[in-house]
Parts: sequence; C-alpha cells; structure tokens
Amino acid sequence: MDLIEWDDSYSVNVYLIDRQHQRIFEYANEYQKAVQNGKSESALRKLLDGLVEYAAVHFSTEERYFIQFNYKETEEHKREHKILTAKILDLSSKSRVGVSVEEDEVSNFLKIWLDAHIKGTDHKYIECFNQGGLR
Ligand SMILES: [Fe+2]
Repeated sequence: MDLIEWDDSYSVNVYLIDRQHQRIFEYANEYQKAVQNGKSESALRKLLDGLVEYAAVHFSTEERYFIQFNYKETEEHKREHKILTAKILDLSSKSRVGVSVEEDEVSNFLKIWLDAHIKGTDHKYIECFNQGGLR
C-alpha cells in the first residue's frame, strides 16, 4: 500500500500546484517502498535528496505566487517551508536501513507533513490565488 494517496481533498484548485503536490506524493511513496524493500542507506538518502530538491522547486513556485498575489500569510507560510525542509534533512541524516515502515521516522513525518501542510497551510491560499485568476 502507498504511504499517501492523492484524492480531491488535497486539491488547492490550481493545476500546477496540484501536479507538483502529486509529484511529491510519488517521491514519498517511492521512498516508502524503498524502505520496505530494504534498500541501502545511500539509495534511501538519494531518494530523499531528490524529494528535498523537488520540494524546493515546489516551495519557490508557491512563494512566487505569494508575491504576485500579495498573499497576507506569506511570512508564516515561508517559515513553515523552511522548517519542513530542515526537518527532512535532519531526519534524512538519521535514516536507517532495516526498520519497518511503521518505525521509519521519515515515512511517518512525510505522511503527517503532506497531510497537515497541504490541507492546513496550503488550503489557506486557495481563495487568494483563485481570486487572482490562478487555476
Ligand atoms: Fe506550502
């Protein structure tokens, strides 16, 4: 079973951002599968590096729109992006081979993060972005 499955409840009603979030889900699911299959530490780290790199691209997309649409919660949101990135990097340096997915801190964090950040923090900009004409 996948770590996290996309459904409409994750949509922010902006095509590009939904696509990026879906791609991040793919990275997270790929990572979880690698943990399940007992992949090497360097393989796991490589997957996480890919995820972090892609997340950076995604965060900068959102942050560009914050400026463009003069989003009022820009600072709080950007702060959260920074914390999330730091947390994944920190966990990545501690990722261990041979733990179950249930015990794997990175998998657990990714699932909670994706769920809480998208449905909580990201969903707050929907109205602002949509009103700016972004879909
Ligand atoms: Fe975000």
